[in-house]
Amino acid sequence: GKNVLFITIDDLRPELGFYTGERSIHPDMHTPNIDALASRSLQLRNNYVQQALCGPSRTSFLTGRRPDTTRVHSNSLYFREVAGNFTTLPQYFKNHGYHSLGMGKVFHPGSSSGDDDPLSWSQEFYKPEFCSWLEYEQCVWPVTAKETEDCPLPDVGTADEAIRSLQRFAPGGEMDGTNFFMAVGFMKPHLPFIFPEEFLDLYPEEEISLPTNPFVPSEYPEVAWGNPQLLLRCGDVTPLNFTGAANETLPEWKQLELRRAYYASVSFVDHQLGRVLDELDRLGMRDNTLVSLLGDHGFKIGEHGGWGKFCNFDLSVHAPLMVSVPGDTDHGVISNSLTELVDLYPTLVDAADLPPITLCPEDSSDVDVCTEGASLIPLVADPEAELKSKVFSQYPRERDTVMGYSMRTRRYRYTEWPSFDAVTMTPDWNELHGVELYDHENDPDENQNVWNDS
Ligand SMILES: *[C@@H]1O[C@H](CO)[C@@H](O)[C@H](O)[C@H]1NC(C)=O
Ligand SMILES: *[C@@H]1O[C@H](CO)[C@@H](O)[C@H](O)[C@H]1NC(C)=O
Ligand SMILES: *[C@@H]1O[C@H](CO)[C@@H](O)[C@H](O)[C@H]1NC(C)=O
Repeated sequence: GKNVLFITIDDLRPELGFYTGERSIHPDMHTPNIDALASRSLQLRNNYVQQALCGPSRTSFLTGRRPDTTRVHSNSLYFREVAGNFTTLPQYFKNHGYHSLGMGKVFHPGSSSGDDDPLSWSQEFYKPEFCSWLEYEQCVWPVTAKETEDCPLPDVGTADEAIRSLQRFAPGGEMDGTNFFMAVGFMKPHLPFIFPEEFLDLYPEEEISLPTNPFVPSEYPEVAWGNPQLLLRCGDVTPLNFTGAANETLPEWKQLELRRAYYASVSFVDHQLGRVLDELDRLGMRDNTLVSLLGDHGFKIGEHGGWGKFCNFDLSVHAPLMVSVPGDTDHGVISNSLTELVDLYPTLVDAADLPPITLCPEDSSDVDVCTEGASLIPLVADPEAELKSKVFSQYPRERDTVMGYSMRTRRYRYTEWPSFDAVTMTPDWNELHGVELYDHENDPDENQNVWNDS
């Protein structure tokens, strides 16, 4: 069978070199390694996440089930405790003779994953050393080589571990002959934007621009707004007296500084990814290894005045996804069909020729192995096939008493914010706290909520 290299990148927008020209984005992203992988992958360009928050999104794509099934809508709940003893994606490979191993940030760490879900892995999950690098001293923090001497950035530690691990499975290595499922989770470009200072050189200050829409849409329902909670923690943001309320904006210099730092963080992660993919090549394992790469959700860098995810805007729920299937996608396959991260589990199982995963029944709490997604492998042969006419995301508000359910079709994004019962996981569609409708044909940046236009 084929090995699987499963890569997750935190808060990665579909704003990468190979996407250039598609949106009002930075015109010259420097992501040569992601671009090279994309050039030999099935590129899912209209891919959406189930919830724009790490824990719920990761729990969903790692179990192949939607947030109302995993019952995880926050970063504090563990699906095995609150929903069911589901077989995860790495665990499924493990159960089929693979050696599964993970490093960095794959599940949301801590109690919300029972400390990286030990049942998923054949060996102890690897966590890089953190030192002070996770603290919110500053949101924009270019570091010098000297500053990282005693303690490397976590993503460097994760890439180092991935390289060491690949060597164990290479010809002549101690695990030679065993298939691996290796999950490598990079933590940047998540806030705070901490990266080696030289990555700023890729983005000259004069080339950084302000977002064109630093405001919420017209007729925007208050309930839909997601406060930029993480940004507000940073020592370089607190003195600005910014509260993060809808239509409040940061000073322009700070917006430019943050956008530049986000781009530099993306290029830093791209560089670490390149080190891992180069090693895969050097060891001669590319042709026998499926590689998937995803962003766990999108991110706003000043658009709508937002700094984070935490909502249902397209910018928060649209995220990169690609799958490299050696022999089948070597020249790159671009698909604009609608897809969701919940589809990745059955897709990788399909690509690896493991026994297929069946669709979950409505109540799947007692079903160990099933999925609420669908394999995307048919798109390799027919990239514009309409596997799905609509895809779904959601975001809770008011301590989970309101749930924003959002549906994306090729043309529209439609969202309703009904009252929600978090015990029975049921919305009350008769009690709406807000409605949004954006017409992407006329308004790709979602600046006009036209829900009230008959
Ligand atoms: C969950 O399933 C695993 C096997 O997949 C089993 O070892 C474990 O005991 C189960 N846990 C519970 C609480 O049932
Ligand atoms: C925010 O600003 C936009 C553009 O000026 C305006 O259309 C909208 O009504 C404002 N919304 C709120 C909630 O202030
Ligand atoms: C922030 O508020 C404090 C206290 O009200 C004030 O002293 C300071 O000048 C304000 N800073 C800015 C940038 O407005």
